[in-house]
Amino acid sequence: MEKVQKKGTVKFFSGKQIPLEMHKVRIVQALNLVPVERRLQAIGEAGYNSFLLGTKDIFLDMLTDSGTNAMSDQQLSKMFVADDAYAGSQSFVRFEKAIADVFGKNMILPVHQGRAAENIISQTFVKKGSVIPMNYHFTTTLAHIQLNGGTVVELYTPEAMVVKSTHPFKGNIDVARLEDLIKTKGVENVPFIRMEASTNLIGGQPFSMKNLEDVRKIADKYKIILVLDASLIGENAFFIKKREAEYEDISLADILRKMCALSDIVYFSGRKVSSSRGGGICTNNKDLYNKMKDLVPLYEGFLTYGGISIREIEAMTVGLYETCEEDVVGQSPLFINYAVQQLDKLGIPVIMPGGALGCHIDAGQFLSHIPQGEYPAGAMVAAFFIISGIRGMERGTMSSIRDENGNDIYADIELMRLAFPRRVFTLSQTEYLIDRLNWLYHNRTLVGGLKFVEEPPVLRFFTGRLAPLSNWPEKLVAKFRADFGDSL
Ligand code: F0G
Repeated sequence: MEKVQKKGTVKFFSGKQIPLEMHKVRIVQALNLVPVERRLQAIGEAGYNSFLLGTKDIFLDMLTDSGTNAMSDQQLSKMFVADDAYAGSQSFVRFEKAIADVFGKNMILPVHQGRAAENIISQTFVKKGSVIPMNYHFTTTLAHIQLNGGTVVELYTPEAMVVKSTHPFKGNIDVARLEDLIKTKGVENVPFIRMEASTNLIGGQPFSMKNLEDVRKIADKYKIILVLDASLIGENAFFIKKREAEYEDISLADILRKMCALSDIVYFSGRKVSSSRGGGICTNNKDLYNKMKDLVPLYEGFLTYGGISIREIEAMTVGLYETCEEDVVGQSPLFINYAVQQLDKLGIPVIMPGGALGCHIDAGQFLSHIPQGEYPAGAMVAAFFIISGIRGMERGTMSSIRDENGNDIYADIELMRLAFPRRVFTLSQTEYLIDRLNWLYHNRTLVGGLKFVEEPPVLRFFTGRLAPLSNWPEKLVAKFRADFGDSL
């Protein structure tokens, strides 16, 4: 890999360490900050589930980066040259080229979003009794694997669960345990190994290139397919460049290509990786491609549009190239790191080091008086919305599942995720987030637990409804008013 000239950094005269935006804002959207009483009413109407809130009541929407990253002028302009055709669209030809240039793969199956890729991969390779080892699961990945009769085994390292850590690669898989698992379960029962870039549910934590190389060796030794979830590959590559010494002078583009070259199948959510919509599954292996191909017209759309609007295919194409740019991919991790450093100084338990996607607060510690069965992370998301108008996402036991006896399977870690979509929020908004979180920390004992009142059997966190176990939300609002007077 060729060395590239290092980019300089901007230093402030004041000595402050502030991330500097490398994009200017040219299209804006008005925000609303409704009074705290309305926010209390709104979260009640939403069954204490932030997925069910309407944006009219939300100030900063930090639910997710999925489909909410800011798009570039280049992306928007290319959407107008889309070649709308059911089959044989030239927009698809440009998309294929981007996949070859950026991911180094010459066959691509387009799908409407990331979980559609998971559906196709799971239907093709998972059967009853299959075991899928991975660094960590993602909600929709787990659901699709289980739907096809498989189970997931997470082989993270002990460091992954240390909240305040300095370990640069908490998303690494434990390679020794991986080999043990293959030997115990039998190669024939392990259809693929899955590695997730910037491991979402443990705080957007990356794996190292060295770790991926070690996994490749195991995959070769046992002739098992290696599948890479590349939804957050840009950020993982960014962390490899910043944290793994030998990649310091290597371009992001080369790092990305190398990560993909080590993987047999690369799939992604275009809603994340390319700041657009859509998704895809790509490979250089014709056999694997042929095994999956027929499911695309069945579930998605014809092979040259895959259920995605052609305009979005153009946006995805440009977005993929932009994911090779450090100023594009780095903005979110730099803002996250800024927030994480400030929160840590205030004593707030936050996942460290700062990762990709968002800031992750350890609700288990923050609300240590709430037992896991009363969903501390869910309660925290509701409480934080009430006192700030900021919508986060629960990533804890509420997002988990029940065992065969109907008992909650407690999450390894209870997190409130505050996503930083790329190039969307400003530093003053980040300061507001820090300020309100600090206030909540000082008033944390006022927050109580939640219980489910309506609980769907699959992916319950999306549409389930909950209720507070006492009148703690009203007490929180009263304290807010006492401290802030007529402030919004
Ligand atoms: N894989 C990872 C690592 C993801 O983060 C997501 C989505 C998916 C797959 C599924 O992709 O949403 O396009 O179907 N993550 C979103 C989030 C939903 O908010 O973290 P999708």
